[in-house]
Amino acid sequence: MDFLKQTRYVPMNRRRRIYEGKGKILYEGPEPGTLIQHFKDDATAFNAKKHEIVDGKGVLNNRISEYIFNQLNGMGIPTHFIRRMNMREQLIREVEIIPLEVVVRNVAAGSLATRLGIEEGVQLPRSIIEFYYKNDALNDPMVAEEHITAFGWATPQELDDIMALAIRVNDFLSGLFLGVGIRLVDFKIECGRLFEGDMMRIVVADEISPDSCRLWDIATNDKMDKDRFRRDMGGMLEAYQEVARRLGILNDNERPNGSGPTLVQ
Ligand SMILES: Nc1ncnc2c1ncn2[C@@H]1O[C@H](COP(=O)(O)OP(=O)(O)O)[C@@H](O)[C@H]1O
Ligand SMILES: [Mg+2]
Repeated sequence: MDFLKQTRYVPMNRRRRIYEGKGKILYEGPEPGTLIQHFKDDATAFNAKKHEIVDGKGVLNNRISEYIFNQLNGMGIPTHFIRRMNMREQLIREVEIIPLEVVVRNVAAGSLATRLGIEEGVQLPRSIIEFYYKNDALNDPMVAEEHITAFGWATPQELDDIMALAIRVNDFLSGLFLGVGIRLVDFKIECGRLFEGDMMRIVVADEISPDSCRLWDIATNDKMDKDRFRRDMGGMLEAYQEVARRLGILNDNERPNGSGPTLVQ
Protein backbone atom coordinates (compact mmCIF):
# COMPACT_ATOMS: atom_id res chain seq x y z
CA MET A 1 0.00 0.00 0.00
CA ASP A 2 1.74 3.13 -1.28
CA PHE A 3 -0.36 5.28 0.96
CA LEU A 4 1.28 3.78 4.05
CA LYS A 5 4.79 4.27 2.70
CA GLN A 6 4.18 7.88 1.77
CA THR A 7 2.83 9.09 5.05
CA ARG A 8 4.08 9.16 8.59
CA TYR A 9 0.71 7.94 9.78
CA VAL A 10 1.06 5.61 12.74
CA PRO A 11 -2.13 3.89 13.88
CA MET A 12 -3.03 4.91 17.45
CA ASN A 13 -2.70 1.39 18.83
CA ARG A 14 0.84 0.90 17.51
CA ARG A 15 2.29 4.10 18.90
CA ARG A 16 4.66 3.64 21.79
CA ARG A 17 3.12 4.98 24.96
CA ILE A 18 5.76 6.71 27.06
CA TYR A 19 3.70 7.80 30.06
CA GLU A 20 0.10 7.96 31.19
CA GLY A 21 -0.71 10.58 33.81
CA LYS A 22 -3.90 11.75 35.41
CA GLY A 23 -5.01 14.00 32.56
CA LYS A 24 -2.79 13.22 29.59
CA ILE A 25 -0.93 10.48 27.76
CA LEU A 26 2.48 10.96 26.16
CA TYR A 27 3.29 8.96 23.03
CA GLU A 28 6.52 8.73 21.11
CA GLY A 29 6.52 11.42 18.40
CA PRO A 30 7.23 11.12 14.67
CA GLU A 31 10.78 12.56 14.97
CA PRO A 32 13.44 12.00 17.61
CA GLY A 33 13.11 14.53 20.39
CA THR A 34 9.36 14.91 19.87
CA LEU A 35 6.37 13.54 21.74
CA ILE A 36 2.64 13.53 21.18
CA GLN A 37 0.64 14.87 24.10
CA HIS A 38 -2.88 13.41 24.22
CA PHE A 39 -5.51 15.18 26.35
CA LYS A 40 -7.92 12.81 28.14
CA ASP A 41 -11.37 13.65 29.48
CA ASP A 42 -10.42 12.65 33.02
CA ALA A 43 -11.00 15.30 35.65
CA THR A 44 -9.06 14.69 38.86
CA ALA A 45 -8.50 16.67 42.04
CA PHE A 46 -6.96 16.20 45.48
CA ASN A 47 -4.24 13.95 44.05
CA ALA A 48 -6.78 11.88 42.07
CA LYS A 49 -8.85 11.03 45.16
CA LYS A 50 -11.70 12.68 43.24
CA HIS A 51 -12.07 11.46 39.66
CA GLU A 52 -14.71 11.82 36.94
CA ILE A 53 -14.91 11.73 33.18
CA VAL A 54 -16.03 15.02 31.69
CA ASP A 55 -16.84 14.42 28.02
CA GLY A 56 -15.12 16.97 25.85
CA LYS A 57 -12.75 18.44 28.45
CA GLY A 58 -9.69 17.02 26.69
CA VAL A 59 -10.66 18.64 23.41
CA LEU A 60 -11.14 22.02 25.08
CA ASN A 61 -7.87 21.87 27.02
CA ASN A 62 -5.99 20.83 23.88
CA ARG A 63 -7.39 23.85 22.03
CA ILE A 64 -6.96 26.36 24.85
CA SER A 65 -3.43 25.20 25.62
CA GLU A 66 -2.53 25.30 21.92
CA TYR A 67 -3.77 28.88 21.69
CA ILE A 68 -1.81 30.03 24.74
CA PHE A 69 1.43 28.22 23.86
CA ASN A 70 1.30 29.56 20.29
CA GLN A 71 0.99 33.08 21.66
CA LEU A 72 3.86 32.50 24.11
CA ASN A 73 6.07 31.15 21.31
CA GLY A 74 5.15 34.19 19.23
CA MET A 75 6.25 36.51 22.03
CA GLY A 76 9.61 34.80 22.35
CA ILE A 77 8.70 33.00 25.56
CA PRO A 78 10.12 29.53 24.86
CA THR A 79 7.79 26.52 25.18
CA HIS A 80 7.74 22.84 24.23
CA PHE A 81 4.80 23.34 21.87
CA ILE A 82 5.21 22.63 18.14
CA ARG A 83 1.69 22.26 16.71
CA ARG A 84 -1.72 20.75 17.31
CA MET A 85 -2.27 17.52 15.42
CA ASN A 86 -5.96 16.80 15.95
CA MET A 87 -8.80 17.42 18.38
CA ARG A 88 -7.03 15.76 21.31
CA GLU A 89 -3.35 15.72 20.45
CA GLN A 90 -0.44 18.05 20.02
CA LEU A 91 3.13 17.61 18.91
CA ILE A 92 5.63 18.81 21.52
CA ARG A 93 9.38 18.79 22.05
CA GLU A 94 10.52 16.24 24.59
CA VAL A 95 12.08 17.93 27.60
CA GLU A 96 13.56 16.82 30.88
CA ILE A 97 10.81 17.90 33.23
CA ILE A 98 11.96 19.77 36.33
CA PRO A 99 9.94 18.11 39.12
CA LEU A 100 8.31 21.33 40.31
CA GLU A 101 4.88 22.86 40.03
CA VAL A 102 5.57 26.57 39.70
CA VAL A 103 2.58 28.53 40.94
CA VAL A 104 2.10 32.26 40.36
CA ARG A 105 -0.58 34.00 42.39
CA ASN A 106 -2.12 37.43 41.86
CA VAL A 107 -5.18 37.09 44.08
CA ALA A 108 -5.61 35.03 47.27
CA ALA A 109 -7.39 31.72 46.66
CA GLY A 110 -7.14 28.02 47.33
CA SER A 111 -4.37 26.79 49.60
CA LEU A 112 -2.84 30.25 50.09
CA ALA A 113 -6.14 31.60 51.38
CA THR A 114 -6.58 28.59 53.69
CA ARG A 115 -3.03 28.39 55.03
CA LEU A 116 -2.56 32.10 55.69
CA GLY A 117 -6.13 32.93 56.62
CA ILE A 118 -6.59 35.48 53.85
CA GLU A 119 -10.04 35.83 52.37
CA GLU A 120 -10.38 34.46 48.84
CA GLY A 121 -10.48 37.24 46.29
CA VAL A 122 -8.14 39.65 48.10
CA GLN A 123 -5.65 41.16 45.66
CA LEU A 124 -2.10 40.28 46.74
CA PRO A 125 0.33 43.18 47.30
CA ARG A 126 2.41 41.75 44.47
CA SER A 127 2.54 38.57 42.43
CA ILE A 128 3.86 35.65 44.47
CA ILE A 129 5.72 32.62 43.12
CA GLU A 130 5.51 29.32 45.01
CA PHE A 131 7.13 25.97 44.32
CA TYR A 132 5.66 22.52 44.95
CA TYR A 133 7.68 19.32 44.62
CA LYS A 134 5.92 17.23 41.96
CA ASN A 135 5.51 13.94 43.80
CA ASP A 136 2.10 12.28 44.07
CA ALA A 137 3.25 9.94 46.86
CA LEU A 138 4.07 12.98 48.99
CA ASN A 139 1.01 14.99 47.86
CA ASP A 140 3.08 17.63 46.04
CA PRO A 141 4.47 19.39 49.16
CA MET A 142 5.38 23.07 49.03
CA VAL A 143 9.15 23.59 49.00
CA ALA A 144 11.50 26.55 49.26
CA GLU A 145 14.30 27.54 46.88
CA GLU A 146 16.73 26.09 49.45
CA HIS A 147 15.21 22.61 49.08
CA ILE A 148 15.22 22.84 45.30
CA THR A 149 18.90 23.71 45.02
CA ALA A 150 20.05 21.53 47.96
CA PHE A 151 18.40 18.42 46.52
CA GLY A 152 19.51 19.30 42.99
CA TRP A 153 16.04 19.48 41.43
CA ALA A 154 17.24 22.68 39.73
CA THR A 155 20.41 24.77 39.93
CA PRO A 156 20.28 28.35 41.22
CA GLN A 157 20.73 29.58 37.61
CA GLU A 158 17.88 27.36 36.40
CA LEU A 159 15.70 28.58 39.23
CA ASP A 160 16.37 32.18 38.14
CA ASP A 161 15.36 31.26 34.59
CA ILE A 162 12.22 29.48 35.85
CA MET A 163 11.15 32.50 37.90
CA ALA A 164 11.80 34.88 35.00
CA LEU A 165 9.72 32.63 32.72
CA ALA A 166 6.92 32.39 35.28
CA ILE A 167 6.75 36.19 35.59
CA ARG A 168 6.71 36.68 31.83
CA VAL A 169 3.96 34.08 31.48
CA ASN A 170 2.00 35.81 34.25
CA ASP A 171 2.30 39.24 32.60
CA PHE A 172 1.21 37.85 29.26
CA LEU A 173 -1.64 35.68 30.56
CA SER A 174 -3.01 38.38 32.88
CA GLY A 175 -3.34 40.74 29.92
CA LEU A 176 -4.73 38.10 27.60
CA PHE A 177 -7.49 37.12 30.03
CA LEU A 178 -8.20 40.69 31.16
CA GLY A 179 -8.90 41.51 27.52
CA VAL A 180 -11.73 38.95 27.48
CA GLY A 181 -13.18 39.90 30.84
CA ILE A 182 -11.43 37.26 32.95
CA ARG A 183 -9.30 37.76 36.08
CA LEU A 184 -6.22 35.54 36.26
CA VAL A 185 -6.24 34.66 39.97
CA ASP A 186 -3.37 32.15 39.84
CA PHE A 187 -1.90 29.43 37.64
CA LYS A 188 0.61 26.60 37.61
CA ILE A 189 3.29 25.84 35.04
CA GLU A 190 5.82 23.07 34.64
CA CYS A 191 9.21 23.78 33.10
CA GLY A 192 11.69 21.50 31.40
CA ARG A 193 15.21 21.39 30.02
CA LEU A 194 15.29 21.45 26.24
CA PHE A 195 18.55 20.16 24.80
CA GLU A 196 19.59 21.43 21.35
CA GLY A 197 23.10 20.28 20.46
CA ASP A 198 25.29 21.29 23.39
CA MET A 199 22.85 24.03 24.31
CA MET A 200 20.25 23.68 27.03
CA ARG A 201 17.47 26.09 27.85
CA ILE A 202 14.51 26.11 30.16
CA VAL A 203 11.13 26.13 28.43
CA VAL A 204 7.49 26.08 29.52
CA ALA A 205 6.12 22.52 29.17
CA ASP A 206 2.96 20.55 30.04
CA GLU A 207 -0.27 22.56 29.57
CA ILE A 208 -1.88 25.88 30.41
CA SER A 209 -5.66 25.50 30.57
CA PRO A 210 -8.60 26.01 32.96
CA ASP A 211 -7.30 22.85 34.68
CA SER A 212 -4.12 24.69 35.67
CA CYS A 213 -5.40 28.26 36.16
CA ARG A 214 -7.92 30.00 38.40
CA LEU A 215 -10.02 32.19 36.14
CA TRP A 216 -12.80 34.41 37.48
CA ASP A 217 -15.25 36.41 35.44
CA ILE A 218 -14.38 40.09 35.97
CA ALA A 219 -17.98 41.22 36.32
CA THR A 220 -19.52 38.42 38.38
CA ASN A 221 -16.50 36.64 39.98
CA ASP A 222 -17.94 33.38 38.58
CA LYS A 223 -15.36 30.62 38.54
CA MET A 224 -14.41 29.43 35.06
CA ASP A 225 -11.85 26.78 36.02
CA LYS A 226 -11.25 23.45 37.73
CA ASP A 227 -12.54 24.77 41.08
CA ARG A 228 -16.02 24.09 39.65
CA PHE A 229 -15.07 20.40 39.77
CA ARG A 230 -13.05 20.50 43.02
CA ARG A 231 -15.94 22.21 44.80
CA ASP A 232 -18.79 20.27 43.15
CA MET A 233 -20.26 23.41 41.64
CA GLY A 234 -21.24 21.80 38.32
CA GLY A 235 -21.00 23.48 34.94
CA MET A 236 -17.33 22.70 34.45
CA LEU A 237 -17.52 21.93 30.73
CA GLU A 238 -19.71 24.97 30.07
CA ALA A 239 -17.19 27.18 31.89
CA TYR A 240 -14.26 25.80 29.86
CA GLN A 241 -16.32 26.30 26.69
CA GLU A 242 -16.93 29.90 27.68
CA VAL A 243 -13.20 30.49 28.21
CA ALA A 244 -12.51 29.06 24.74
CA ARG A 245 -15.32 31.09 23.21
CA ARG A 246 -14.07 34.34 24.73
CA LEU A 247 -10.56 33.62 23.49
CA GLY A 248 -12.14 33.30 20.04
CA ILE A 249 -11.05 29.72 19.49
CA LEU A 250 -14.43 28.03 19.51
CA ASN A 251 -17.26 28.68 17.10
CA ASP A 252 -20.43 29.39 18.98
CA ASN A 253 -21.89 26.34 17.26
CA GLU A 254 -19.09 23.93 17.99
CA ARG A 255 -19.86 21.07 20.37
CA PRO A 256 -16.60 19.62 21.71
CA ASN A 257 -18.39 16.88 23.63
CA GLY A 258 -19.59 15.41 20.36
CA SER A 259 -23.21 15.58 21.38
CA GLY A 260 -24.35 15.41 17.78
CA PRO A 261 -24.37 17.55 14.68
CA THR A 262 -25.11 21.25 14.94
CA LEU A 263 -27.31 23.13 12.56
CA VAL A 264 -25.31 25.58 10.47
CA GLN A 265 -27.35 28.71 9.92
N1 LIG B 1 7.52 18.35 26.79
C1 LIG B 1 7.46 17.37 27.69
N2 LIG B 1 8.41 16.40 27.73
C2 LIG B 1 8.35 15.41 28.66
N3 LIG B 1 7.39 15.31 29.60
C3 LIG B 1 6.43 16.25 29.61
C4 LIG B 1 6.41 17.33 28.67
N4 LIG B 1 5.35 18.12 28.94
C5 LIG B 1 4.72 17.56 30.00
N5 LIG B 1 5.35 16.44 30.42
C6 LIG B 1 4.95 15.55 31.51
O1 LIG B 1 3.91 14.73 31.00
C7 LIG B 1 2.94 14.43 31.99
C8 LIG B 1 1.59 14.90 31.48
O2 LIG B 1 0.57 14.09 31.94
P1 LIG B 1 -0.34 14.45 33.20
O3 LIG B 1 -1.58 13.65 33.03
O4 LIG B 1 -0.42 15.92 33.41
O5 LIG B 1 0.59 13.79 34.33
P2 LIG B 1 0.57 13.93 35.91
O6 LIG B 1 -0.54 13.06 36.41
O7 LIG B 1 1.94 13.43 36.26
O8 LIG B 1 0.37 15.40 36.20
C9 LIG B 1 3.37 15.18 33.23
O9 LIG B 1 4.02 14.30 34.12
C10 LIG B 1 4.34 16.24 32.71
O10 LIG B 1 5.31 16.58 33.67
MG1 LIG C 1 -0.31 17.04 35.18
